[in-house]
Amino acid sequence: MESDATELLDAGERLGPEALRAVQLERLRTTLRHAYTQVPFYRKAFDDAGLRPEDCRSPADLARFPFTTKADLRDNYPFGMFAVPQSQVRRLHASSGTTGRPTVVGYSDRDLSLWADLVARSIRAAGGRPGHKVHVAYGYGLFTGGLGAHYGAERLGCTVIPASGGMTSRQVQLINDFRPEVIMVTPSYLLTLLDEFERQGIDPRTTSLKVGIFGAEPWTEQMRHEIEERFALDAVDIYGLSEVLGPGVAQECVETKDGLHIWEDHFYPEVVDPLTGEVLPDGEEGELVFTTLTKEAMPVVRYRTRDLTRLLPGTARVFRRMERITGRSDDMVILRGVNLFPTQVEEIVLRTPGVAPHFQLRLTREGRMDALTVRAEARPRATTAEREAAAVSLAQSVKDGIGVSVRVEIVDPETLERSVGKIRRIVDLREE
Ligand code: DLL
Repeated sequence: MESDATELLDAGERLGPEALRAVQLERLRTTLRHAYTQVPFYRKAFDDAGLRPEDCRSPADLARFPFTTKADLRDNYPFGMFAVPQSQVRRLHASSGTTGRPTVVGYSDRDLSLWADLVARSIRAAGGRPGHKVHVAYGYGLFTGGLGAHYGAERLGCTVIPASGGMTSRQVQLINDFRPEVIMVTPSYLLTLLDEFERQGIDPRTTSLKVGIFGAEPWTEQMRHEIEERFALDAVDIYGLSEVLGPGVAQECVETKDGLHIWEDHFYPEVVDPLTGEVLPDGEEGELVFTTLTKEAMPVVRYRTRDLTRLLPGTARVFRRMERITGRSDDMVILRGVNLFPTQVEEIVLRTPGVAPHFQLRLTREGRMDALTVRAEARPRATTAEREAAAVSLAQSVKDGIGVSVRVEIVDPETLERSVGKIRRIVDLREE
């Protein structure tokens, strides 16, 4: 894919480094003032820390301000974090909230317009262009993926196919008949679509798709290769979270595919030590923290994402990049003292001959010890000998690469549950 012509960039993307820093500081101070004056939670948090919004004289001063956590959002459920009257809140979204209360987020008219602009910018960075047809298979509804992608694609001037998740065989038919150039979907659901293409006897490499914009869950470089190989498209990463915006907080550029540029003119990132909260220098891995710079209905100050990454200098854009997310602190399995993320197992599964890119991690307790079984699916035509070899090789690679012994079960093709949205990799059977 050829690189973006400069004339396609919007005003924010054309800022020079100095101008960007000036814009960030001004917007940071405005946000702190807005949060402090409009949201009792922030007023109390700043007062307790002995700080006023004006105490932020440079982005480095932000480190003195208190963090905001998911628990704070839950404690203020449903609308306590809103900074505008309810009549100005034009839309609500909410996280699934597998345990306890969901987290609710609100958007003003201006926020919705900004969101569309940033997703349009993201699709363009991924290689989408006005006039392209965009198949949106992120779920519509309270989840931000579907509607976020939808309005961004419209804003760019694309034709949107609002497929949402599910009804997989019909999705394949729509892709065949409508011939979209771009697909936006979770990487795990794309694999489900891939199997369906093959089941219908259609070679996925022959589809009209040229660009895939994949996010909402962790995926690996190995998965990029698998997808690009089997679909003949450019696979790029999109990142976001509902508390900060939804999709469109950071995006990988198709011409470099070297991590995600954070749209820093609208979100100020920090990476902190997850245990001490201390801000880490760029290049060091830790927990990503965001302060919104332009959000009106629900600004967040130093929101702890629990996502682990590191900040890197800009390349295709002036904005700093974040490395693809290795995992969330919540998804980390601690097995006999060794930390393990599902993405580490994904890398190994994808380079093991004879196994398909479908796997699950099952945690059990044996006596007082936790045990992990990696269940991976055999490739459709793998022989018994290949399956046995795969089991041995997978277990050995996990032992060598991650440093822990696991059990491996190679199961029959098409037996593991398929994703229609965000996949659940870890099945925790320890309490049963
Ligand atoms: O998943 C927003 C989104 C929709 C992003 C569509 C991209 C595409 P939430 O449901 O609030 O919002 O979940 C946010 O998902 O904190 C990460 O842990 C994870 N996540 C999102 N994008 C990526 C990605 C949406 N590209 C949470 N890589 C975040 C890894 C991701 N993890």
